[in-house]
Amino acid sequence: MKLSAFLSAIASHIFVTAAQYTVNSSTSGNDIFDGYVSYSIEFSSFPDFAGNISYPNKFSDTLLSNIRDLIGTKPYIRVGGNTQDYALYNASLPYALNGTFDLGRSADYPTTIFIGPSYFESYQTWNDVKFCHGFNMGLGGNRSSGWQTLLETVPLACKALGREKLYLWTYGNEPDLFSTSAQGPVRPARWDERTYVSQWLNGTRTIKTLLQEHCPELSSGDSYGYLAPSFAGVGNRLKAPAAWAQNLNVDKNIRLFATHNYISGATSPGVTLQGTLMNHANTKRSVDAHIIEYSKIKSVDPSVPPLIFGETNSLYNQGRPGLSNTFGAALWVVDLNLYSASVGFKRVHMHMGTNYRYGSWQPISTNITSKGTKAPYYGNIAVAAMMGNLSRLSVTIVEITLSSSTAEAAYAAYTNGGKTLTRIMVLNMRGYNTTVDGAGLVPLTDIPIRPAVDYRFIINTKEAAAKRKAVGVQRLWANGSDAITGITWDGWSYNYELDEGRPVRLANTTVGETATVSCNGSVVVTVPHSSIAMLDFAQGSDINDGSGSGI
Ligand SMILES: *[C@@H]1O[C@H](CO)[C@@H](O)[C@H](O)[C@H]1NC(C)=O
Ligand SMILES: *[C@@H]1O[C@H](CO)[C@@H](O)[C@H](O)[C@H]1NC(C)=O
Ligand SMILES: *[C@@H]1O[C@H](CO)[C@@H](O)[C@H](O)[C@H]1NC(C)=O
Ligand SMILES: *[C@@H]1O[C@H](CO)[C@@H](O)[C@H](O)[C@H]1NC(C)=O
Ligand SMILES: *[C@@H]1O[C@H](CO)[C@@H](O)[C@H](O)[C@H]1NC(C)=O
Ligand SMILES: *[C@@H]1O[C@H](CO)[C@@H](O)[C@H](O)[C@H]1NC(C)=O
Ligand SMILES: *[C@@H]1O[C@H](CO)[C@@H](O)[C@H](O)[C@H]1NC(C)=O
Ligand SMILES: *[C@@H]1O[C@H](CO)[C@@H](O)[C@H](O)[C@H]1NC(C)=O
Ligand SMILES: *[C@@H]1O[C@H](CO)[C@@H](O)[C@H](O)[C@H]1NC(C)=O
Ligand SMILES: *[C@@H]1O[C@H](CO)[C@@H](O)[C@H](O)[C@H]1NC(C)=O
Ligand SMILES: *[C@@H]1O[C@H](CO)[C@@H](O)[C@H](O)[C@H]1NC(C)=O
Ligand SMILES: *[C@@H]1O[C@H](CO)[C@@H](O)[C@H](O)[C@H]1NC(C)=O
Repeated sequence: MKLSAFLSAIASHIFVTAAQYTVNSSTSGNDIFDGYVSYSIEFSSFPDFAGNISYPNKFSDTLLSNIRDLIGTKPYIRVGGNTQDYALYNASLPYALNGTFDLGRSADYPTTIFIGPSYFESYQTWNDVKFCHGFNMGLGGNRSSGWQTLLETVPLACKALGREKLYLWTYGNEPDLFSTSAQGPVRPARWDERTYVSQWLNGTRTIKTLLQEHCPELSSGDSYGYLAPSFAGVGNRLKAPAAWAQNLNVDKNIRLFATHNYISGATSPGVTLQGTLMNHANTKRSVDAHIIEYSKIKSVDPSVPPLIFGETNSLYNQGRPGLSNTFGAALWVVDLNLYSASVGFKRVHMHMGTNYRYGSWQPISTNITSKGTKAPYYGNIAVAAMMGNLSRLSVTIVEITLSSSTAEAAYAAYTNGGKTLTRIMVLNMRGYNTTVDGAGLVPLTDIPIRPAVDYRFIINTKEAAAKRKAVGVQRLWANGSDAITGITWDGWSYNYELDEGRPVRLANTTVGETATVSCNGSVVVTVPHSSIAMLDFAQGSDINDGSGSGI
């Protein structure tokens, strides 16, 4: 059903009547960084995502450009993940990557990997993108071929990237799991923070020496630095505060404190869309654990670098079909990103790889997954729209605490150093199915009416008090939380099959909707279950009908 027809149809079926929330007109600025919407691409999948000089992946580039058109810069790309620590260099390999699967270790990515010189061509295919290349610490500190790989690939990576394309480096992915990894340990059981730090310092100092020799312009100052420690989580064998206490940052070269997070696992018992992902309390708890850890470090070392998610997504082990690839997961993407921004994360790299169920897009067609834009991408788009053009105005995100349910959340975006309330985004994450089994395949024959919730926000701005104002309303919309396609942001589809990922405005959606801020500063927005609405105060107009005078 068309959204406008739907909204009139449900006008008399409001499920929960207007709850009222007060939104501060200003806040203390705690601005996020540019490129807040960023990605992490699995090391072994990077040639699929980016292509090479002869066959650049233009579809991926288009999807990155769509995000730039909302947030001002293309996403920063971290190339890494488990497979960065499996990759060995073979100078005579005539193609980018020779990966061999071991189904006992993973069905989703190769665990025996050789890369050739042409792997580094993939850094040349997208303009205006900054990359973080991940060096192999897992095997680097385990066998001589691993260390040799570091010596041979530093010159290749630094020459491929240069000043223009280099973001930062990583040395090792999730070293907190090196002695316990389910995909095969690369360190003995006695692995600890002290040994980790000594090996990390040995590796990064070696990288620096190689840079001085091969790419001197990248060996000092702002052009040299790392994302670290890139730990998998907060409860593993190695703990970030203990690694920090062992003087991990003694060389003062860690520019961003990167941590990784997944809400739960693809095959963990009891995982559901509503209970695990479309659940604000769960998301909050998962993110807060990192804030607690980071605060411990900050209390001993106030100079700890800014916090980011260097790798994150919904369910580890590459996501679960019917959950991680649905519109419900797109709603979760928005909640995760906005909540993280509200508690101090400066940038978020959403992870993906070829055939991964939680991926924002599938870069090539395989016999498992068709090439295309996937549901989580629409979450990335909505987050970018909420942030707005960060090259023009920086943004602070504040959570608006809602009282009634863990299946909803709301956020305010402030510009101008926290002084100006610019946007409000409301997430109604209560589930609404349009198919029988949640797999997006068999349509329900008798779909129950889709309920909706009215949210009333009291915005005490001087402007609102002075006059009535029409504000823009934009929506993240699909048939239901179980939908895996037919998703739109503000009526735009970015699907591959329409125009290869370029935005296409669909005829069957409502656009140009507005809501009215009344003269007492209150505004109501109706948000159907499993959808998101954004009020954009920057996209509005004054209503000159005289009713604003005299309050
Ligand atoms: C969404 O629902 C409409 C009917 O309301 C149907 O025509 C359309 O095919 C559905 N779209 C998807 C992607 O399932
Ligand atoms: C709004 O401002 C008040 C007073 O400064 C403060 O106590 C409260 O935490 C703020 N609320 C939000 C959501 O920022
Ligand atoms: C973002 O803002 C910058 C600085 O004002 C401007 O140059 C750029 O064109 C804007 N980008 C978009 C997509 O609006
Ligand atoms: C390196 O690549 C060459 C050329 O494909 C191949 O013959 C050789 O076996 C490879 N070496 C390893 C260790 O895989
Ligand atoms: C470039 O990509 C194409 C298409 O995937 C592939 O056939 C070719 O081998 C690649 N070239 C190199 C040098 O890896
Ligand atoms: C690819 O790697 C496998 C596993 O190590 C090896 O047997 C094979 O020879 C390699 N192929 C090439 C072309 O290097
Ligand atoms: C650094 O690590 C390499 C490889 O494990 C090793 O050969 C070398 O001795 C180490 N250097 C120091 C100073 O520990
Ligand atoms: C290398 O990894 C193996 C497990 O694959 C482990 O038993 C061994 O201790 C590791 N060696 C070093 C030097 O860490
Ligand atoms: C799918 O493709 C992979 C790699 O191209 C191949 O190894 C595998 O056998 C194929 N599986 C099926 C079921 O065709
Ligand atoms: C949607 O479908 C899933 C899977 O069948 C089910 O567990 C869930 O309860 C349904 N949600 C609603 C709101 O009907
Ligand atoms: C809207 O139109 C598109 C493209 O024609 C179609 O795929 C989609 O299912 C439609 N959506 C609804 C909600 O009817
Ligand atoms: C503000 O005005 C709206 C619309 O005129 C009204 O429904 C609402 O009750 C008023 N709220 C307050 C707090 O006065």
